[in-house]
Amino acid sequence: MAKKDKKKNDENGGADRGNGGNGGAGVTQEQFLELLNVDLAHEFSAVILYRTYASEVQGQWRMELRQFFEAEIPDELGHAQILADKIVALGGRPTTIPAEVKPAKDAREMLRNALDDEIDTIQRYVTRRRQAEALGHYGLAVEFDDLIRDESTHRDSIQLILKRWDTG
Ligand SMILES: [Fe+2]
Ligand SMILES: [Fe+2]
Repeated sequence: MAKKDKKKNDENGGADRGNGGNGGAGVTQEQFLELLNVDLAHEFSAVILYRTYASEVQGQWRMELRQFFEAEIPDELGHAQILADKIVALGGRPTTIPAEVKPAKDAREMLRNALDDEIDTIQRYVTRRRQAEALGHYGLAVEFDDLIRDESTHRDSIQLILKRWDTG
């Protein structure tokens, strides 16, 4: 596995040099813009997920969970704004197509899906932060610190609710 990864990196390194070098980011500016659009698509889908779950949630904790899901929406919209503005500033076109939203059969599955998405997003942003810095986009790298902080707060809140759910 490690050997395979190293080989992949070496191959990337070669390709990157062929593209004029990018300081070890592992991606070209063009690829980076595409990746920012992947991130934007997931922020849009987070807005849709929290809006849909807030409306659909049933059961004993409906009102509490509805409020909780709704409270996430402004943060996710704010993230979409940061990414869309940056994509335009870098000469790209922001996607208008959200990533897929997972359906959920009950409140617990909603929380699980939301938690999985937050964890995936944090991982993507940690990678994206490194790529931004390597490409010389230092301001954007700092923006990713804020995004990572926000998504970590979301993850922690959901984890606490799930913990209470499973022990309560
Ligand atoms: Fe977000
Ligand atoms: Fe989030």
